[in-house]
Amino acid sequence: MARMIFPNGGEISDLPTLQGRLAAIGITLRHWPAPSTLRGMELMEKPALSDDEKGELLTLVDNRFEELKREAGYTTRDMIVIHENIPGLADMLAKFEKIHYHTDDEVRYILAGKGYFGFVEPDGAQFMLEVSAGDYINVPANAEHWFTMRDSRRIKAVRYFIDTSGWTPVYTDRPLQFTN
Ligand SMILES: [Fe+2]
Repeated sequence: MARMIFPNGGEISDLPTLQGRLAAIGITLRHWPAPSTLRGMELMEKPALSDDEKGELLTLVDNRFEELKREAGYTTRDMIVIHENIPGLADMLAKFEKIHYHTDDEVRYILAGKGYFGFVEPDGAQFMLEVSAGDYINVPANAEHWFTMRDSRRIKAVRYFIDTSGWTPVYTDRPLQFTN
């Protein structure tokens, strides 16, 4: 379940409060329980997945993809698996750890592990949102954000796209109010 973290160390974990605060900046957060089948849990616990295993896990949550296709015109999805032994991990994460936006929505459904999205409020204040299994998040086009793993070493998430060409990060050079 998601948790909001502030630069002064304060936290909010009540889901309706979180959803209201996020909705004010256009972000949708839903709780979609992760698959609970034996095979699903086995795949979610593995650190790395082969392409076939990723496909198998994606199939287990295709009811969500069908819903997003109908609701909002999503056309493709894939799975991102981050773990401590990925070659070039630090370079990969460095691209997402600076404040940026995209010209398409950034949509993620977290199945296992955890990660941290950072957001900028209209008054310039910043907060981080810890996301973990069962969190679905839609960060709208043009919303400033960043993503970091902090103390987490692993995450598995489905990425949904309307148009993959809109996913290039545009950096805004706004400084972070968090050290990590
Ligand atoms: Fe992003």
